[in-house]
Amino acid sequence: MKTGREQWGSRIGFILAAAGSAIGLGNIWKFPYITGENGGGVFVLIYLGCIALIGTPILIAEILIGRSTQKSSVSAFSDLAGKESNWRMVGFLGVGAGFIILSYYSVVAGWAMNYTFMSITNFFEGKSAEQIGATFGTLFTSADINLLWHTVFMVMTIGVVIAGVKRGIEKWNKILMPLLLGIFLLLAIFSIFLPGWKAAVNFVFYPHLDKLKPSGVLEALGHSFFTLSLGMGTMITYGSYLNKKTNVVKSAVMVSALDTGIALLACLVMFPIVFSFGHDPSAGPGLVFKTLPIIFGEIGNIGMLLSIIFFALLVFAALSSAVSMLEVTTAYLIDEKGWSRKKATYITGGAIYLFGIPSATAGANTIFPDWAGMYGKNFFDSFDYLASNWMLPLGGLFVAIYAGWFMDPMLRQAEFKGGTKFTQSWFYSVWLFFLKFIAPLAVILIIAQRVGVIDIDKWI
Ligand code: TRP
Repeated sequence: MKTGREQWGSRIGFILAAAGSAIGLGNIWKFPYITGENGGGVFVLIYLGCIALIGTPILIAEILIGRSTQKSSVSAFSDLAGKESNWRMVGFLGVGAGFIILSYYSVVAGWAMNYTFMSITNFFEGKSAEQIGATFGTLFTSADINLLWHTVFMVMTIGVVIAGVKRGIEKWNKILMPLLLGIFLLLAIFSIFLPGWKAAVNFVFYPHLDKLKPSGVLEALGHSFFTLSLGMGTMITYGSYLNKKTNVVKSAVMVSALDTGIALLACLVMFPIVFSFGHDPSAGPGLVFKTLPIIFGEIGNIGMLLSIIFFALLVFAALSSAVSMLEVTTAYLIDEKGWSRKKATYITGGAIYLFGIPSATAGANTIFPDWAGMYGKNFFDSFDYLASNWMLPLGGLFVAIYAGWFMDPMLRQAEFKGGTKFTQSWFYSVWLFFLKFIAPLAVILIIAQRVGVIDIDKWI
């Protein structure tokens, strides 16, 4: 092992940082609304299955690849498969995906910052549903406001990454994650006393079979990748700062459990509010930004406080995820090109910031006015589509195939068992089976459905 490479200060530091990466807008903004759109119940069950059977095995594989090489994504594949190997492309795919995703993730995080400030000024009180809906539209189309928040958020992200693995990423996650968990639990307790709690629990946990389309299964699967930060080399990079004594399997299971716990808590916070005030759970992507403020605005001072807390949490969750994306590109330049952390962070952070500007102004349509006409989607949506629907599933597929079929079996087994007390090998065999067969098959299905080769809604 090279000396001088940073490592996590403790196992819990790693778990919180990896959980910080996993827990983000995907859990609090996206999961509740796709659960709402897919009718709750069965969708949630399938999602839990995908996390346990497909997402977690790939998560273990990514951490193992990182830990065994002590290198970030591209260099990890050079070490394992050889300098000339095409497997390095998997690393590059991840670096590219991280670059793209962070550029617009920062814009959505900026909306959460804007809503935090609107909550502080008690903007929502006394506003009608139409006015609040229109507010989101105004925000979306205001180039200057979006640019301002995009700038602030990227500066914060760069600030954390530049401070390094232990003094930046680990330290901030150790503060933000327990805060997020604690406040979320408080919000969930508050929700129990709302009249809509029973209806919400029924919605989230009771299997209403009729409401789920088969394509919802693939949506659950795709989301399980996004929410666990898979397919982009994030977990390879975070795993590379782990020492050999850490039990990877146990840590990965903890990360999955925390991530799933927060996603479910987000539903148990939001749906009671939605049902108590007679709103529609299937409101789509606007659920957090258009629906919750209406309700917060109706419940006076407590509503204002809840609103500030809720949107601030969203910002924290987004920040710890954004940090993990910037770390992937930064670590690539440090490991591969020998740059200093400072230089690597400023340059990649700056480039991502610039690339995000057309996304920040996508609603105002000022920078590439013809983009949507040419590509059918605005700049923001085009890159979201490319990265989340193509680059991440492909990245996850290749990681599963590499770790399942090509990685040196002795090394793989030693890494899997290193730091554990597993003497019996059945657990290893089960993991390998899911990695070799189930995970690749599942990703190929998602991709085939997206390309339109198959339409699983027609199969049933
Ligand atoms: N998992 C985060 C979320 O749920 C987003 C994220 C961070 C991510 N790093 C990633 C997604 C890497 C895919 C790949 O919001």
